[in-house]
Amino acid sequence: MCGIVGILGAKPVALDLVDALRRLEYRGYDSAGVATVENGHLERRRAEGKLRNLETRLQSEPLAGHTGIGHTRWATHGKPTERNAHPHMSGRVSVVHNGIIENYRDLKAELQAKGHVFASDTDTEAVVHLITDEMDAGHGPVEAVRRSLKRLSGAFALGIIFAGHDDLMIAARQGSPLAIGHGKGEMYLGSDAIALAPFTSEITYLEEGDWAVLSRTKIEIFDRNGGAVQRPVTKSIASSLLVDKGNHRHFMAKEIHEQPEVISHTLSHYLDMGEGRVQFPELGIDLSAITRVSISACGTAYYAGLVAKYWIERLARIPVEIDVASEFRYREAPMSPGGLALFVSQSGETADTLATLRYAKANGQRIASVVNVRTSTIARESDAVLPTLAGPEIGVASTKAFTCQLAVLACLSIALGRASGHIDAAKERELVQALVELPRHISVLLRNEHKFEELAHALGKARDVIYLGRGISYPVALEGALKLKEISYIHAEGYAAGELKHGPIALIDENVPVVVVCPKDELFDKTVSNMQEVAARGGQIVMVSNADPDEAGCKVVSHIEMPDVHPFSAPLIYAVPMQLIAYHTAVLMGTDVDQPRNLAKSVTVE
Ligand code: F6R
Repeated sequence: MCGIVGILGAKPVALDLVDALRRLEYRGYDSAGVATVENGHLERRRAEGKLRNLETRLQSEPLAGHTGIGHTRWATHGKPTERNAHPHMSGRVSVVHNGIIENYRDLKAELQAKGHVFASDTDTEAVVHLITDEMDAGHGPVEAVRRSLKRLSGAFALGIIFAGHDDLMIAARQGSPLAIGHGKGEMYLGSDAIALAPFTSEITYLEEGDWAVLSRTKIEIFDRNGGAVQRPVTKSIASSLLVDKGNHRHFMAKEIHEQPEVISHTLSHYLDMGEGRVQFPELGIDLSAITRVSISACGTAYYAGLVAKYWIERLARIPVEIDVASEFRYREAPMSPGGLALFVSQSGETADTLATLRYAKANGQRIASVVNVRTSTIARESDAVLPTLAGPEIGVASTKAFTCQLAVLACLSIALGRASGHIDAAKERELVQALVELPRHISVLLRNEHKFEELAHALGKARDVIYLGRGISYPVALEGALKLKEISYIHAEGYAAGELKHGPIALIDENVPVVVVCPKDELFDKTVSNMQEVAARGGQIVMVSNADPDEAGCKVVSHIEMPDVHPFSAPLIYAVPMQLIAYHTAVLMGTDVDQPRNLAKSVTVE
């Protein structure tokens, strides 16, 4: 994830900006830069690679400004070169940015036609020129930003400074978090409170859609509709990376809300978003030679693998075998030499998954692992590591790690499809675009969280809840049921919708909520038939779909309205309501959401 910092200081800020950036190093980056307002002008220093390169640069060419922004960049649009490093600037405006500006191509074309000259390949630079254009038209900085924000689409966070304005910084949050730190006669901005810990512990978190006008002594915050709003000042305990919940009640809530950002970050590791191509890191495995894939994992990670089976078989026409690791390890599965064995694990330490990995290795398989902890045993024992860049996941119930696993597996599936010759460049661009749009859709969904609080009141009364899904939505239904049972302790089961009448339908009566995961895809009509079977027996249908509830042709007690997304990327976005249903039901039930009874985060025993 890119890191953003900003300081309106009482003395030169460049080295403090670098210090703050150092605290964001854990997010990963490939270049860095700072810009300050110096005698009314904008000046910047940038460097490829680690922060020490930027420091060396600042030693030979210091910056004296007391107002500045800094950034660590993880390349998304354009190579990790100095030219593409942030801050980006025109003569009037300098911007640091985290996330994706989805409509940057259109904006860039429009601004170039007006004579703006772009100096980088980034999406960020479109923001710089957009604001500059508004200022050239006579608007002041605040109005120019307000007008520009309305034109940006995507999930992002911004920090902005202006030539000639030494006591002004503007911040905007839409999908990627931002924290404002209050100092004595100083003001700070950071991607998270951890970056600001050396300066202050008084933090205001911007909420979704907020933008803020900062000076050394004052903050004005506006919501997405432009109305002035107050956000509380909280005391941060960010001295340890692992204990900061931000302004959320639980780590699980924080982690659910981090998804637009961490999915962007993960995707940016595997995609060239500008070109619309998968850009896989060197795996040391010839993807075009793979004739068989086996996947093994536990729990939520297993469900991520199950989604990947649908993707890989559909896109690459390669057969995929999948099993939970505790079964795989003992069933003496025959594995023909030359296969790819794929292991999915957040912790990278799960005992059963590790044992299966060793079995596959002993049986001549090439080993690739999708892990969140790069130093883990599973990562160390793999031939190729495909990291999820979800950041630390503290809540025991996996949320952001799951969607990031899906993001990696989606990219791998496209790469296998391309290597096997089953998808062409146009199809690849279509699928990549579907992934690039996801963070925005997820942040929109997260804005309507109150619907899930209402639904929780109904689910909280149930003894059993059934989840149904068909095709690629089947593993999503399984994950929904697992989430609910593990944190609310309500009994929940997921079934393939078509299996309903082979047994589970006996459970349905008017006391049983049935959550139906049914994006409007080619299997929608089939799932509708199953919904009608449920309704005929009095089951309480909760329809999670982008289709109109009238299309169900039966009584739907609750409709979770989903955005229209490409069927390929649907599992990533449909996972989010599964998490929110479970979270709000558990909060209502008063359970220990982050540390549910009997569960451990890392299962290192059999
Ligand atoms: C459920 C959950 C577990 C884990 C499983 C595997 O919310 O978190 O089911 O997915 O224990 O753990 P990892 O991914 O660390 O191998």
